[in-house]
Amino acid sequence: MCGIVGYIGKPPVVQTLLDCLGRLEYRGYDSAGIAVVNGRGIQVRKRVGKIKELVASIQQHPFEGTSGIAHSRWATHGLPTEANAHPHTDCRGSLAIVHNGIIENYAALKARLQANGHRFRSKTDTEVIAHLVEDYAKRLPVAQAFRRALKELRGSYAVCLIAKQDPQRIYGARAGSPLIVGVGDGEAFLASDVPAVLAKTRRVIYLNEGEVVELSSDGARLTTLSGAVIHRKPSTVSWDIASARKEGYDHFMLKEIFEQPSAVEQTLVNRLDAARGRIAFDRRTRAFLEKLKPNEQFVLIACGTAYHAGLVGEYMLEELARVPVDVDLASEFRYRGPMLTRDTTVIAITQSGETADTLAGVRLAKEQGAKVLSICNVMGASIPRESDAVMYTHAGPEIAVASTKAYTSQLSALYLLTLYLAKARGALSAVRWRSLVRQLSHIPSLVERSLRAEPLIKEIAKSYAGARDFYYLGRRYNYPSALEGALKLKEICPSIHAEGYAAGEMKHGPISLIRRGWPVVFLATDSPVYEKVVSNIEEVRARKGDCIVIASEGDQRIRRYATHLIPVPKTEELFSPIVAAAPLQLLAYHIAKLNRCDIDQPPNLAKSVTVE
Ligand code: F6R
Repeated sequence: MCGIVGYIGKPPVVQTLLDCLGRLEYRGYDSAGIAVVNGRGIQVRKRVGKIKELVASIQQHPFEGTSGIAHSRWATHGLPTEANAHPHTDCRGSLAIVHNGIIENYAALKARLQANGHRFRSKTDTEVIAHLVEDYAKRLPVAQAFRRALKELRGSYAVCLIAKQDPQRIYGARAGSPLIVGVGDGEAFLASDVPAVLAKTRRVIYLNEGEVVELSSDGARLTTLSGAVIHRKPSTVSWDIASARKEGYDHFMLKEIFEQPSAVEQTLVNRLDAARGRIAFDRRTRAFLEKLKPNEQFVLIACGTAYHAGLVGEYMLEELARVPVDVDLASEFRYRGPMLTRDTTVIAITQSGETADTLAGVRLAKEQGAKVLSICNVMGASIPRESDAVMYTHAGPEIAVASTKAYTSQLSALYLLTLYLAKARGALSAVRWRSLVRQLSHIPSLVERSLRAEPLIKEIAKSYAGARDFYYLGRRYNYPSALEGALKLKEICPSIHAEGYAAGEMKHGPISLIRRGWPVVFLATDSPVYEKVVSNIEEVRARKGDCIVIASEGDQRIRRYATHLIPVPKTEELFSPIVAAAPLQLLAYHIAKLNRCDIDQPPNLAKSVTVE
């Protein structure tokens, strides 16, 4: 979802802005633009389409500046046109704005500004900010005018501003949408996400809600909306630039699929001590978990892939820790009037930590007196900051729009939580608990083994690259795997329709569509419902559908039912979703590649969904 960059420091400013903006391409966008301040005032260039169109235009007609802002836009208000692309300027072109988020009261503000003589050039909500600041800047210095304007905005924003009369500064502010400050040597950055600045600096300040920042080449000055100074030192990001590069892989998605053994390891390391049979969390999380009541009710909220991790979590938490669990799509949770109490723990699962619906769910939970534990990958993001406790997954930056390593690291966090609670509640025998802890410690190497199926999956993909419909079926722990497998495929290969179902639901409708050669991906790993899944496979075969079966290594019997067989390491049922994840991801990846899809940035999708 829209990317923001701001830069002040050393020349070439335009090149630095474009480099940083390019590192936010993964967020998804449909137009891009840049504005700089120079001796001639403010210069703006915008293009519809990819950043490379903008770069080409600047190469043809170059310009430079002392500071600047840039933006990749994912259209919300108004079509993806040059007029609607950011940056937006005021009437006189004396200041420029880039913005992420949605200004909910823009229509009222626009009407008022138009009545006062302001001329609007776009259909966006963003443009009102430029005109509002212009109005206040007639009688106030830019910094104050900016803060006054921000106070009038309702909705969400991360916004950056440059002004002709203040060329040695850029301004930024956030409320509801992410914005970070990168602090370099004689230079400073603003960005919607850390990867934008990683090649330049690892020293980062995460802006909090309602904070405003004033950047000069000497550094950053933070204030509240009322102008009170805030002191905060930069923190050092542990990721390095290598983690934000493709490193020889054709796509970030493939790189991230292959990073899963180490991503999962990172989630487990320092928390799981299999030799001594211990699971430990940081002080805050431990204190949080120790205070939970015996009758604690858990509600897992998340969107998309993270929701699928939550569904697996429901099975394991109820079955092994014996705690009552509901799982909700965050977008439904916030509107269904949930009944939460002080004895409810809401677990928010999110890679980015910025998903608007999940964040709204967290706020709703807190309003109703519930506690919030988040499972998140991005340090310092909004959701972990608003939670009572956090389990960071430490999977490293996930650049591809399709979530892969974030999913398996979320599952790993849920395994840790389940086993911790199971022990705390005496829900499992000591022998069984130790055995599961030992098996969990082997998960990174089992995920590694499941990746070895790639050459086989690549071949299978060739048979189905031309298919236009797919079903994915599984039961119990692998029902969410079926949903996730289908989501991966339809996400990155938009010409394919893919649906995931609980295999038991087949007879209640979906089976009617099966015909000769219709590909059905089955999750048929070792489990108490194995026989039932085999029956479902037979039903598909009886209708001449093709069965691509993911089954446990050593399962000879399944061979005779499968059109194609993908073996994965044999595990306890609860760990089967994590070993099945990579084959599902690889199948989607190779089918999409054969269909020449834009795998890392599928059309119409954004990495971080910061609007409702
Ligand atoms: C799917 C995908 C999305 C995200 C969803 C939640 O591959 O990437 O479905 O899982 O938008 O995002 P986070 O986890 O950042 O809250």
